[in-house]
Order: sequence, then structure tokens, then C-alpha cells
Amino acid sequence: MAAGWWVLIGIAALIALVALYDVLQRRHSILRIFPLVGHLRYILEAFGPELRQYIVTSNDDERPFSRNERRWIYASSKHQNAAFGFGTDAEFDRSPGYVIISPAAFPAAPPRGGDPPDWPLPSAKVLGGPRCRPHAFRPASVVNISGMSFGALSARAVESLNAGAALAGCLQTTGEGGLSPHHLHGGDLVMQFGTGWFGARDRHGRLDLPRLVEMVAANPVRAIELKLSQGAKPGVGGMLPAAKVTPEIAAIRGVEPWQACESPPRNPEFGSVDEMLDLVERIADATGLPVGIKSAVGAVGFWTDLARQMEGGTRGVDFITIDGGEGGTGSGPLAFIDHVGLPYRLAQARALRAFAERGIQHEVTWIGSGRLGLPEEALMAFALGADMVNAGREAMLSIGCIQAQRCHTGHCPSGVATQSRWRQRGIDPTLKSARAAAYIIAMRRDITRLSRATGVDHPSQVSLSNIEVLEGDVLTPMAQRFGIHPDWAVPVEI
Ligand SMILES: Cc1cc2nc3c(=O)[nH]c(=O)nc-3n(C[C@H](O)[C@H](O)[C@H](O)COP(=O)(O)O)c2cc1C
Ligand code: SF4
Repeated sequence: MAAGWWVLIGIAALIALVALYDVLQRRHSILRIFPLVGHLRYILEAFGPELRQYIVTSNDDERPFSRNERRWIYASSKHQNAAFGFGTDAEFDRSPGYVIISPAAFPAAPPRGGDPPDWPLPSAKVLGGPRCRPHAFRPASVVNISGMSFGALSARAVESLNAGAALAGCLQTTGEGGLSPHHLHGGDLVMQFGTGWFGARDRHGRLDLPRLVEMVAANPVRAIELKLSQGAKPGVGGMLPAAKVTPEIAAIRGVEPWQACESPPRNPEFGSVDEMLDLVERIADATGLPVGIKSAVGAVGFWTDLARQMEGGTRGVDFITIDGGEGGTGSGPLAFIDHVGLPYRLAQARALRAFAERGIQHEVTWIGSGRLGLPEEALMAFALGADMVNAGREAMLSIGCIQAQRCHTGHCPSGVATQSRWRQRGIDPTLKSARAAAYIIAMRRDITRLSRATGVDHPSQVSLSNIEVLEGDVLTPMAQRFGIHPDWAVPVEI
């Protein structure tokens, strides 16, 4: 045979070996799912900074998460160097509403002997404590994993996040799609119910309370969240496309397989604050667990009404998860994603004000979500009154999501938001759970460091007076900008 043929055979053998290695290795989901072509992603990632000097976008341009933000998450989750060199490339003076955290002249010192490697950072408040729920508890981590259903996410993604929650000592909210075996890998759960009551519904889609009680008692559920609405799409309920409703998912939810699974925009069990609080108390009495709500924020009337009806102390929610309009969704209509519901900071300020004006803001634990899975965004949320933050898409990024934004199609290239067995194969839950945990711990580490830079030890002690908003060269105190008193947000005791 001519030498040329041997060269060709050699090249073909090399390509076949690389493809085989790609399919068998477990570290990189993209290579496992897309052998050979997947290398393009890593090549482009490696040479991206040089290429971008001449073409395409800057480090801070992309949305929902900029390249810098993604790089911080990827590097933190892989225990790589997450530092940035040379200085900021943010255009403070040209970005409207740019937030500046004021450093103290004398930052708080780390503990003698240094910080433990898992950077423990428990909540300042006992969840369910003010209402004396039998199973009230102090969450061990102020950073937790947001509700994303099995169905919207793949089985391996849910498993990775749950096992990651166990490693990091944080909570995972189930999402409204019910409690699946993939949620049972050691992590404690907040069981979420949406308007479809998946997992605890009767044949007509109404709440089956004995079933709910049985389910939470048999599983590591620490609290229950009633989802009124989601920041990304308030007013439209939930929608799982038909392609994702596999027989397994249908069985967990109690619906028909391969048919789009919709949850109604409004809960069939309550239509007013009064009825909602009755139901909250009924569920809390039956389970002993703290019960809260998750909601986007719109008209102030709901929040003033809720605060008014809780003021007497006979009924009340134990926690309120405020989901900002910048939040994510597995699938939703564009007009809602872009235009319905307040962004997080305004949403949190509006809801907090309604409670603080009656002096009862510390009767509930406030949880924030909506791009808060980044240290500086989380710190801002704490200064605005959040006691904990939930990370959704940022946690997805930590387990391999590449922000392709095709979650609604069933063709997620990273195996995170798909029910395709081949694509899911790219996710190795042992490896990805360690990454999810490393990301949560990095969040706690950097939030702690930021808090210390302002002179306090815990993010709940960070006052709004420490934060200012820059417009051009004019600085406005954040408290003034958002119309809330700096002291409202800091819990009385920590
Ligand atoms: C794929 C996906 C599925 C989601 N599923 C739910 C859900 O079942 N219930 C819910 O309350 N929120 C759901 N969300 C919203 C997140 O829990 C979270 O509130 C929102 O994305 C904001 O947080 P983030 O900016 O950290 O992602 C989902 C989001 C995504 C991206
Ligand atoms: S890789 Fe794309 S499709 Fe998959 S979860 Fe991430 S954003 Fe969604």
C-alpha cells in the first residue's frame, strides 16, 4: 500500500480513538454527547479572549449571564482559579443603576485558625420559629438550590443537584413537578406545590391533603412551598412540553404521558389571601412543617393585605420566596418573560415595605431568587432584607449548562434540561454533584468575604447604608433609591 494510504489510515484511527475516548470519559458532558465536534467548544473557550479583542461581544455583554459571570461559576465549581486579572472591564459610569458596595476602613477579621473549607453560613432566622411550627429549623446554608422540576430538568441533573445539596449542606426545592426518586440522593428538600398539586392531587387536580401528609412524612422534606407564581412568567402557570412528558414523569405528576402538562395560572384551592392563609395553617397543622409561598411581585395590594392579615399573629406564612422578573423558566411565553413582574430588587423592596410598615418583617424568612446566584447580587439581596437566596440557572451552569437557551425544546446540548437518554448520558452525577457543591460553597465563601469587607461577619448584618447606586457620576444611597429604611432589613438578633 502507498505511504499516503497509511497516513490516511493513521489519521482515521486517531480520530476514532479520540471519538471513543470522548464517549467514554465522564468529565465533560459536551464531549460525551457530541464526540469530536464538542472539542470546538473548548478550543473556542480557550482562544475566546484573544478572538474577542477583534470580533463579537465583550465579557459583560451576554445575557442572562455574562461570560465573566459564567466563568466565575464554571471555575468555582471545578475548583479552578476563579480570580480575574488586570482589573475591572465593567463600565461603571455608563451602566445605569450600577451598584457599589462600600468597603469598611477596617474590615471584619476572619476567625482565628481560618475558615472551615465548607464555609458554613447558616440563616440568621429559624424557619418556622416565629410561628412555633413543630419542625421549625435553622437552615444550615443561606445559599440553596431553587425549585426546578424533574421534567424540566433531566433525571441526572436533578440527582446531581440533590447529591450536591447533600455535600454542601444546603436545601433543594423540588420544583412544582412533584417529588421523584432523583430527588432522593441525600439532600434535604423543600417540597413545592404549584397550582397543579402534582404528587398530591386527586383525580380532578385538587389538593389531596392526606396524600400530601403521607408523602412529606416518608421523605426528607423540611418545608413546604406553595408556588403562587414564578418571576419569569407570572399569571401563566406551568407548562411542560409534550416531548418531555415521559411515562415516568407522567406517573410522578399523575397526568397522561406524551401530552403537554399544564398547571393552571390560579390555584384551585384559594382565591384570596384569607383562603390562602387558612390553607397554609391547615397544611402546617397536618405536617408540622414550616409552610411558605413563592411569588412574583406586581400590585402592592396583595402584600399589604397579606401583612395586614398576618399582623394579629393567628395565621401566617413562615417564609416568602420573592422571584424577580429576571428569573428563569424551563418554558414560557416571551411577552411574560420580558415584561410581566417586577425585577428582584424592586420586588423585594415592595413586599418588604408592606411588612415593615407593620413591624412584622422579621416574622417571616425572606428568600430571594432571580439572578442572585452570584456573590455581589446575593449580597445586595441580603441588604434589601433577604435572609437566604436560591440559585436556579447558576446551579445548572455549575453542572454543565452552557446557556444554549434551548431548555424548552427537549434538545438541551448539555443533558441538563432534556429527557433524551443519549444527551443525559453526558452527565455523571458523582462528578457533577461535587461541582454543584463546590459552587454553593464558593458562593458562601465570597458572600462571607464581601460581608467582612463591609465590616460585618454575616450577610444579614449588611445594611443598605453600605450600598449605593451610581448613575453617571452621581451616587444615590440604595435605601433612598428603593424607598426603604436601612434598618428594616437587618434582623434584630443574629
Ligand atoms: C429549567 C427551569 C425550570 C424551573 N422550574 C421551576 C419550578 O418548577 N418551580 C418554580 O417555582 N420555579 C421554577 N423555575 C424558576 C427557578 O426556580 C428560579 O425561581 C428562577 O430561575 C430564578 O432564579 P435564577 O435566576 O437563579 O435561575 C425554573 C427555572 C428553570 C430555568
Ligand atoms: S445548555 Fe441550554 S438548553 Fe441546556 S439547560 Fe443550559 S440553557 Fe437550557
